[in-house]
Amino acid sequence: MNFSRIPLGTTSLEIPPLGIGAWSWGDKMFWGYGRGYGEADIREAFDTCMQAGINFFDTAEVYGLGQSEKMIGRFLKADGRPALLATKFFPFPFRLTKGSLQRALRGSLRRLQVDTVDLYQIHQPFGLIPDKTLMQSLADAASAGTIRAAGVSNYNPERTRRCAALLKTTGLSLASNQISFSLLNRKPEKEGLLNLCRELGVTVIAYSPLAMGMLSGRYTADSPPRDFRGNRYSREFLSRLPPLLDLMREIGRAHGGRSLVQVALNWTIGKGTVPIPGVKNKRQAEDVIAALEWRLTGEEIAQLDAASDAVGSR
Ligand SMILES: NC(=O)c1ccc[n+]([C@@H]2O[C@H](COP(=O)([O-])OP(=O)(O)OC[C@H]3O[C@@H](n4cnc5c(N)ncnc54)[C@H](OP(=O)(O)O)[C@@H]3O)[C@@H](O)[C@H]2O)c1
Repeated sequence: MNFSRIPLGTTSLEIPPLGIGAWSWGDKMFWGYGRGYGEADIREAFDTCMQAGINFFDTAEVYGLGQSEKMIGRFLKADGRPALLATKFFPFPFRLTKGSLQRALRGSLRRLQVDTVDLYQIHQPFGLIPDKTLMQSLADAASAGTIRAAGVSNYNPERTRRCAALLKTTGLSLASNQISFSLLNRKPEKEGLLNLCRELGVTVIAYSPLAMGMLSGRYTADSPPRDFRGNRYSREFLSRLPPLLDLMREIGRAHGGRSLVQVALNWTIGKGTVPIPGVKNKRQAEDVIAALEWRLTGEEIAQLDAASDAVGSR
């Protein structure tokens, strides 16, 4: 697969323009891992990505209660080729000290079977450890060589700016902010977070870029998802999607029969972000990777913006 790697923030790390999200890998609680898809499917998806050079995987200590990290560790060990691993520290309310992060990181390294995590992210901003302590803790991990780059996730513009400044005092840069961003969630674009990150040299990693599959065209008001996603996306909301999905279909057709998923991912790339779609099997992996074979025009992005605005918020 032909694509140019891009720098992760202002670090010397280079990532593909699209990564792979591994939340559903081993996660029974939300995604129903083991029913409809299992380790063999995920293994094929992983192999497909590695073969295409898409070797940037996003996981977290909490995904599948550690199973996602363990699975990636097993796959990588067997594969032998290098990959870029991003995982996350969850600031549970019982985690109160600087040492919590180092302990959690040791657990992630063990499950991933590596000595260094390429990108270590604070999963969300609502913990009890002060920002200054957390950022210092990330800097300590970087000095110790257990992480290569530091990131945050779900941080608003104000906290992003603050943490970037705090990290800077330690000599480390804030590499990324991982946020929910898709044609069905444009808040980060509208509240100025994308512009701020561009200004600060922070890579925006777009999670749920397919709105948890709602942009694939598979789900409708008459046939909503039967898992936790059904609560998140009501039938009423799904009933407002057809005009957007029709436009996506039309644009996909104009580019030689591209899928809705590829249109959705290309839109996030067009907005300057790095999407990390979750995939459960080889077919889905092949489809998302193929999004890198073509690009939307500026005019198509503007048309999609307008159709997305017309859907309104969830
Ligand atoms: N930092 C955070 O707080 C946070 C929160 C959420 C997610 N994330 C990260 O972002 C990643 C991706 O987000 P996500 O998994 O929530 O949502 P997503 O990437 O928007 O959607 C993933 C789902 O879309 C469907 N899909 C994927 N490829 C497809 C294809 N080619 N054709 C048809 N359907 C396809 C699959 O579900 P079905 O086949 O079941 O329809 C898949 O599970 C996660 O894995 C995780 O790494 C981070």
